[in-house]
Amino acid sequence: MNPTLLEKGWLEIMPDPTLDLFAELEKLKKEKNAILLAHYYQDGDIQDVADFIGDSLGLAQQAEKTKADIIVFAGVHFMAETAKILNPNKKVLLPDLKAGCSLADSCPPDSFAAFKAQHPDHLVISYINCTADIKALSDIICTSSNAVQIVNSLPKEQKIIFAPDKNLGRYVAQQTGRNLVLWDGSCMVHEIFSLEKIVRLKQQHPEAKFIAHPECEAPILELADYIGSTTALLNYTKKDSATSFIVATETGILHQMEKSSPNKTFIPAPPNNNCACNDCPHMKLNTLEKLYICLKHEAPEITMEASLIEASARPIRCMLELSASFGL
Ligand code: 13P
Ligand code: SF4
Repeated sequence: MNPTLLEKGWLEIMPDPTLDLFAELEKLKKEKNAILLAHYYQDGDIQDVADFIGDSLGLAQQAEKTKADIIVFAGVHFMAETAKILNPNKKVLLPDLKAGCSLADSCPPDSFAAFKAQHPDHLVISYINCTADIKALSDIICTSSNAVQIVNSLPKEQKIIFAPDKNLGRYVAQQTGRNLVLWDGSCMVHEIFSLEKIVRLKQQHPEAKFIAHPECEAPILELADYIGSTTALLNYTKKDSATSFIVATETGILHQMEKSSPNKTFIPAPPNNNCACNDCPHMKLNTLEKLYICLKHEAPEITMEASLIEASARPIRCMLELSASFGL
């Protein structure tokens, strides 16, 4: 939140509880020529008011092509930052600047620069879930939708560092048969699934297909009937003939799965704590109220140094060009 809003105090800027926030947001979007982009891990009500809902690749593609003057990003910081890198002259807003990412945090730029220096003949492919500083140290960015194709598009003898997610990196290495040098990072949400509870759930629901995001650990992926990005998982549940699915990724995706296939059953895969499902604490910092305040006051805004925008744009644009060439 910008200092002026903070000085006012939260209570003073809280929307009137009688307001229809869905209608108000629609009105503000039109008045300000703003587009609301939301990741599948957002709460259902935020997804319902969004202009576009997608995975990290889809969101970056939408951000690149939008004609709106303002982009409101219902997601986490690295996603809004990517939208800003692709649109340096537009206003990019994030409802809560504290919406970070454990995976992005697991890769500090100084340590990564030293790691890169130890492997001077390697190309750096970084998962989009990283800071702009890491992007600037990378040759190509990837997402869970295109990582395998991007690695496959490079000559077999090309040495590659894959950062920051070791679980996605291990999965990509397996799929491509490449020996990738992995940075030791991970996502707190996808690492917490309980193998034991999932095995039990599969026994209780033998008819259910088990589907998982590639950020999950290897033993979980070994159990999966299908592995894919959030968009790929959603598409799989629409097309597959199974009528029930155990879903190992953040629970926000269940909203679209249930909307697209109302007659199918979706069971969130359980984590190894006392919760029944698995929410990303960063994604879930965004609320409809914060979204309304953010668009109304046009704050908090993502701001970046021009030199960092320039350095981090190159590997992102490279990914977008490669993705288009794959038909993604
Ligand atoms: P995708 O959006 O590529 O499926 O990645 C999931 C994720 O963890 C986003 O933070
Ligand atoms: Fe980061 Fe994991 Fe949350 Fe995605 S789900 S924003 S990778 S912590």
